[in-house]
Amino acid sequence: MRFGRFDDEHREYVIDTPMVPYPWINYLGYDGFFSLISNTAGGYSFYKDARLRRITRYRYNNIPVDDGGKYFYINDNNDVWSPGWKPVKAELDKYECRHGLGYTKITGEKNNLEAEVLYLVPLKFNGEVQRVRLTNKSDYVKKFKLFSFVEFCLWNAYDDMTNFQRNFSTGEVEIKGSVIYHKTEYRERRDHFAFYSVNSDIAGYDTQMEDFLGLYNGFSSPDAVIEGKPRNSEAHGWQPIGSHCIEVELGAGEVKDYIFILGYVENDKNDKWESPGIINKTKAQKMISKMSSSEDVDRELDAISDYWDGLLSVYGIEHPEDKLSRMVNIWNPYQCITTYNMSRSASYFESGIGRGFGFRDSNQDLLGCIHQIPEKSKQRILDIAATQMEDGSAYHQYQPLTKRGNDEVGGNFNDDPLWLIASVSAYIKETGDYSILERLVPFDNDENKEKNLFEHLKRSFYHVVDNLGPHRLPLIGRADWNDCLNLNCFSEDPDESFQTTENKEGKVAESVLIAGMFVCYGREFEEICRRTGKEKEAKEANRHVNSMIGIINEHGWDGEWFLRAYDDKGDKVGSSENEEGQIFIESQGFCIMAGIGVDDGRAKQTLDSVKEKLSCEYGIVLQNPAYSKYYLNLGEISTYPEGYKENAGVFCHNNPWIMIAETIIGRGDEAFDYYRRIAPAYLEEISEIHKTEPYVYSQMVSGKDAYKKGEAKNSWLTGTAAWNYVAITQYILGIRPDYDGLIIDPCIPSDWDGFKIVRKFRNSVYNIEVKNPEKVSKGIKSLKLDGKELEGNKVPISDDGEIHRVEVVLG
Ligand code: GLC
Ligand code: GLC
Repeated sequence: MRFGRFDDEHREYVIDTPMVPYPWINYLGYDGFFSLISNTAGGYSFYKDARLRRITRYRYNNIPVDDGGKYFYINDNNDVWSPGWKPVKAELDKYECRHGLGYTKITGEKNNLEAEVLYLVPLKFNGEVQRVRLTNKSDYVKKFKLFSFVEFCLWNAYDDMTNFQRNFSTGEVEIKGSVIYHKTEYRERRDHFAFYSVNSDIAGYDTQMEDFLGLYNGFSSPDAVIEGKPRNSEAHGWQPIGSHCIEVELGAGEVKDYIFILGYVENDKNDKWESPGIINKTKAQKMISKMSSSEDVDRELDAISDYWDGLLSVYGIEHPEDKLSRMVNIWNPYQCITTYNMSRSASYFESGIGRGFGFRDSNQDLLGCIHQIPEKSKQRILDIAATQMEDGSAYHQYQPLTKRGNDEVGGNFNDDPLWLIASVSAYIKETGDYSILERLVPFDNDENKEKNLFEHLKRSFYHVVDNLGPHRLPLIGRADWNDCLNLNCFSEDPDESFQTTENKEGKVAESVLIAGMFVCYGREFEEICRRTGKEKEAKEANRHVNSMIGIINEHGWDGEWFLRAYDDKGDKVGSSENEEGQIFIESQGFCIMAGIGVDDGRAKQTLDSVKEKLSCEYGIVLQNPAYSKYYLNLGEISTYPEGYKENAGVFCHNNPWIMIAETIIGRGDEAFDYYRRIAPAYLEEISEIHKTEPYVYSQMVSGKDAYKKGEAKNSWLTGTAAWNYVAITQYILGIRPDYDGLIIDPCIPSDWDGFKIVRKFRNSVYNIEVKNPEKVSKGIKSLKLDGKELEGNKVPISDDGEIHRVEVVLG
């Protein structure tokens, strides 16, 4: 069952009922000011850091779901309603929500009055602009009242929802003309404030929640709105809000626009005040005048659209299957940029408080967006690398505002360092910019401990070499990619975190996944050494990589698939010898991506095992059989009920590792079949089961062992976005940047006739046409560049600003 439709021409998903199976959201913002907005106008805003600079408040785990947001109310002769249906929930004559790239447009209509609200965060603008367009569709004059509403957060989102003994006494506002200023804590150490403006005269305002709502009311029935009388309340403590009341008169057929701005301003410490106690509003006034008319808003909307034209033009497909095209051309790259912006901080499942930016997460996110935003990616790489320790290990997370490692979580997740090699090698392949390796980057954010980025990569590599266990496989530390496989934790205390508790010395438990990663990314490190003239380093790296391959063959192979790990006793994890959790997805994917078992048939055997034991209608589950009880030696993985999250859920992040592995052994039908099972556009028809947005991936879909199968959770912020993008664009469609050219190596379903790709790469444009006359999955029969036959499957770099024609015939 569908709840809307894709409008590919406008790059929008159009939702046609407010009652979707779960709030379907969108993200606004690029440069610092960000908003989350749901299809019923729920959500919140923050500046750079969802924990430390929360601008509006949002209550998670709320009832009804998704309460609190950027609301408008209309009181049309005592008929009270909201254009986004919520919070009033009055029945509307018409409802539509269009989530587009960087904007959301919600339209409601009642009693011949249409209210269309456009929400956007303009480029390089620290504010959210809301344009309310009111249309009188009747043939008589309408007089009614429009109320706006936002609830301010007292900046630190964690403190805001816990420290009420203080917070109920700190709130402060100023009201001047039609602008409401939120200035809590500005009197002391904060040099920033928020404002909420409208470009018209107002009949009144409210800034105190209790006066606006009435102490015993919810957002659905504010006293001020119901009575049509703003209270002109001034917040002192309690809960500061911003609400304008506007009296509107519209002739028959008349249309009127109102522009609201929710802005954020930082002032210079020495220039904070206009007069004692009165904030300096100069910057706010500037922002307001910049967006004062409908034309201004149209201009910004066009600029956002141009921005996306640019980003999306780097890789585009032409293929008869519209589901595939809209994933590749629009929604998957859009989600990749969002994960770049947010890491795992703020979504409807990530509260913006618990986790900042993940070392491993953000490195992987880059794999999906370097081609779109190379400059920003470079900066991100340098920021992440600065949270690495001198011994090569890394802080697991860091706060985006301070860019410092998060001490509460610390480090010792032994896969982390290798992801830095993954992102840097992808960056160099895309851009050819080796100079990044020379950039000086501190360790542990300490300027006194600066070394160039190459040295950081080297320490990443040797962190594995220096931390091998009894089988000479890499020690796992607290956990590897699978945060929930906690082999050194042995926790019997429910008040401890599985992520930060280590009760064991950590000198025994080993990870075959890290071993596979080491071979994959170790080879990239070797290649980088070679290409920068460090032959000795390259040889040494090669020796370690080859030795690891030998060790995986000797101690990492279980007979029909790759083992997952050894636990603290040295017992196997992910082996046919185990009663439960006999086979895991991660090591199968990474060992085959590392090329292990490809020549001797074990890769195929492994993938057949995956198909038989792990795959199901909704994707490939993480392991099988699911754990039915808590295993002290395994940790959090066995805490989840069967079929959910890391305990045999479909963890969409690593399904593409298997897709890529399938392409490596040439099975395009299997690879694409797995792709289709989890790609959101293909699940639109089962939205009532899938629940989350049909335009973005979710982290997890409940697996074959779950009570309710096929139900997704944790949409948007997941490495799933980047990895699926890599799998489809680089391995299935097979257009892949390399250090010295563009690899053309599709591995597709054998019944495809072909497809076309436009790829911008290193300053040239390649119009690539792939034909498949012999109906094969893989193999290049001929490859022509501008009509000239090429040897092999790599298009050399032209770097000439020209458009080139690439003709590929499979066979
Ligand atoms: C979450 C984490 C990621 C981890 C994965 C598997 O997505 O953000 O770091 O790899 O779960 O546990
Ligand atoms: C929990 C989640 C896992 C996530 C981790 C991050 O363990 O199950 O997916 O990576 O928390 O803190």
